[in-house]
Amino acid sequence: MLLHPRLIAFLVAFFISGVSTTFLSFVSGVSNSMLFVVGVASFSSAFFLVMYTVEVLVYREVTKIHSTIQRLKLQDFNISRKALVKDTNPFKKLNQEIFVYVAKKQREIDELKKLEVFRREFLADVSHELKTPIFAAQGYIHTLLDGAMDDEVVRDKFLQKAAKSLDGLDALVKDLLSLSQIETGELKMQLAPVDLRLITLEVCEQLENKAAARRTHIKIKPDRLPNVWVKADAQRIAQVMTNLIENAIKYGLDEGKVIVHFTEEKKHYVVAVRDNGPGIDPEHLPRLFERFYRVDKSRSREKGGTGLGLAIVKHILQGHGTKITVTSQLEKGSTFSFKLEKAFL
Ligand SMILES: Nc1ncnc2c1ncn2[C@@H]1O[C@H](COP(=O)(O)OP(=O)(O)O)[C@@H](O)[C@H]1O
Ligand SMILES: [Mg+2]
Repeated sequence: MLLHPRLIAFLVAFFISGVSTTFLSFVSGVSNSMLFVVGVASFSSAFFLVMYTVEVLVYREVTKIHSTIQRLKLQDFNISRKALVKDTNPFKKLNQEIFVYVAKKQREIDELKKLEVFRREFLADVSHELKTPIFAAQGYIHTLLDGAMDDEVVRDKFLQKAAKSLDGLDALVKDLLSLSQIETGELKMQLAPVDLRLITLEVCEQLENKAAARRTHIKIKPDRLPNVWVKADAQRIAQVMTNLIENAIKYGLDEGKVIVHFTEEKKHYVVAVRDNGPGIDPEHLPRLFERFYRVDKSRSREKGGTGLGLAIVKHILQGHGTKITVTSQLEKGSTFSFKLEKAFL
């Protein structure tokens, strides 16, 4: 039960005056008017004394605590001094506020700790990923210098291998730069109407050699859609399509099939990149979009993958206010799809 200071003062004063008049009434020769005067005097003095003590002690302390909070500049503390002093039980209110505040801070600390772990892991991953191609190229070049250069066949083979490692390094650094630019918001998405069908055609042309090397057949469907006008950042969305189609070629089958499918909805287009490759085990799906996550590490690296492609895709699509989803069935193939807003309704 909440006790207002005035009620406390009243009760205490009533008790004190009651006790003093009762005792006084036992003394012989005390008249009623004397009893009345003592009753009123003890009641009023006790009432004001208690009131004063409660008000001064409680509110002075509350004000002190409040000003300490102010000094700490805890802006998140959304409680005004006025509201506190007016409250019947300021300590309870303060306590509640502090509890909410501490819970909020604790959440922030947990978040920061998670980020710190993430940062540390990322740094370790980056160092490891950088080390691998550098180490390989270094090995080949030193072997050449140590005499392997004299054998023409070995020389060509080793130089090619060193070059391939350095290409991998180049791809990795480029992907890391992309990722960091997107993350720091340095590169804002320049949303404008773009024809995603045309962009996809261009991307397919660029990937022609890679597809031809595996005799992969790429198709854009359906034929009856001459244009797919969406609101997107042309360059970034091309990066998304390149990664998805390239993955479908790389991780699909030889002589595989890749289909880019556009579905028109009321306000959106759904874009799906489908392959008939070996598919992805469901246990890998939740982590697929993490940086450096690869289903088959050695196979991905050998195919020139950095493991950053899908993380970049995820970020770019987030920048477009949409998200990527994947469905996959082992031995049947995988489908990566996302929605984009139509440019013209
Ligand atoms: N279409 C696909 N079919 C099977 N596996 C895939 C497909 N796309 C991506 N993956 C798996 O997801 C991993 C992450 O892809 P990505 O981030 O693009 O990295 P990278 O291509 O550089 O290896 C790949 O290493 C691969 O194991
Ligand atoms: Mg990739």
